[in-house]
Amino acid sequence: MTESFDAVSVIRTKRDGGELSAGEIDWVISAYTRGDVADEQMAALAMAILLNGMQPSELSRWTAAMIASGERLDLSGVSRPTTDKHSTGGVGDKITLPLAPLVASLGAAVPQLSGRGLGHTGGTLDKLESIPGWRATLSNAEFRRQLAGVGAVVCAAGDGLAPADRKLYALRDVTGTVESIPLIASSIMSKKIAEGASALVLDVKVGTGAFMKTEADARELARTMVELGTAAGTKTVALLTDMNSPLGYAAGNALEVAESIEVLAGGGPSDVIRLTVALAIEMLAGVGITGVDPGQALADGRAMDTWRAMIRAQGGDPLAPLPVAAERHVVTAPRDGVLGRVDAYAVGVASWRLGAGRARKEDPVSAGAGVLLRAKPGDTVTAGQPLFELHTDEPARFERALAALDGGYDINGAGGDYRPRELIIDRITV
Ligand code: URA
Repeated sequence: MTESFDAVSVIRTKRDGGELSAGEIDWVISAYTRGDVADEQMAALAMAILLNGMQPSELSRWTAAMIASGERLDLSGVSRPTTDKHSTGGVGDKITLPLAPLVASLGAAVPQLSGRGLGHTGGTLDKLESIPGWRATLSNAEFRRQLAGVGAVVCAAGDGLAPADRKLYALRDVTGTVESIPLIASSIMSKKIAEGASALVLDVKVGTGAFMKTEADARELARTMVELGTAAGTKTVALLTDMNSPLGYAAGNALEVAESIEVLAGGGPSDVIRLTVALAIEMLAGVGITGVDPGQALADGRAMDTWRAMIRAQGGDPLAPLPVAAERHVVTAPRDGVLGRVDAYAVGVASWRLGAGRARKEDPVSAGAGVLLRAKPGDTVTAGQPLFELHTDEPARFERALAALDGGYDINGAGGDYRPRELIIDRITV
């Protein structure tokens, strides 16, 4: 039984820059989960943490208490080694779709519990739900069977996984307390550690389309999460990757599925392929699988076979046509030059406003809506050439989407001063 403390004293300690004891942390997380600490008290504590931070020992205890608020999956019965990836979220980040089957096709098992999109970044489940028949919710028995058989499962996290985080994240969302590195790190890592994979690769995005706008913040978040994972016995590494412009050409649910299928068919955009292969190598190395060639498994159809099995196992038809939006609008280049900046945030907001994303958790999303880039940074363009293709079911949405794109890209003079950014900025371990 956990000791009983007093919520106001816990809040005061953190407000005044003090350190919470292990007993106080265990109590406040458990009491909040069962409703004995009120939302307004937890909101005050979250704000005190946002303002004053947490010591490493407090953070690891806080994360452990969030894990202990629910079940921790036991994957020891799965014969293949288990490995997973988490991205902190970006625009056009469809990497999970080709990555999970790719890694499974090379001998590991990928148990991925994913979320839905909120705001300008898309959610993996929303993307997969654009495939006719595919369902996100599996029972524990179905999850284990698919993991053992197909080797890859991407599905919704059940209510039993880190329920403290479910409640706290919803509260942070409405109290201006999302942007705290210890709170983000413990939120992500409590869910990922509870998921039970032996190895974990974190794709920490940095740039305009990411949570972390500066490299310094992204590095700190990456290092904090790698330390938490390692301390919990999960082999964890992080890649720091650029999110100033969208990944690939597609942003939007079915549009991103279509682009992922191109990658699984051995084609697709070079940045999506590079990041998929780099993350696959890390996920496999984390469980001791080396000397394999993920690029070859994309090219020769092994990853595609696993993708089809993964989609079929969850009721989807991998060969059915994907939904297409009813209306299109093309934005053309106003003049000749070199396309410089294509701002990921602007494209993400445009796609969201076209119907691909949601403003509230309960909102539906449109499967066909989104933005297709018709040119990428560094491409030479001529006046009148298509730059963006906007897709929506409701033409009234074009105006606000166009407003989001306004000022979201630059065309430099011919031979302009475009300098490519590194896609993979760094690799972070402890
Ligand atoms: N994603 C999460 O799961 N939690 C956060 O706090 C931020 C992003």
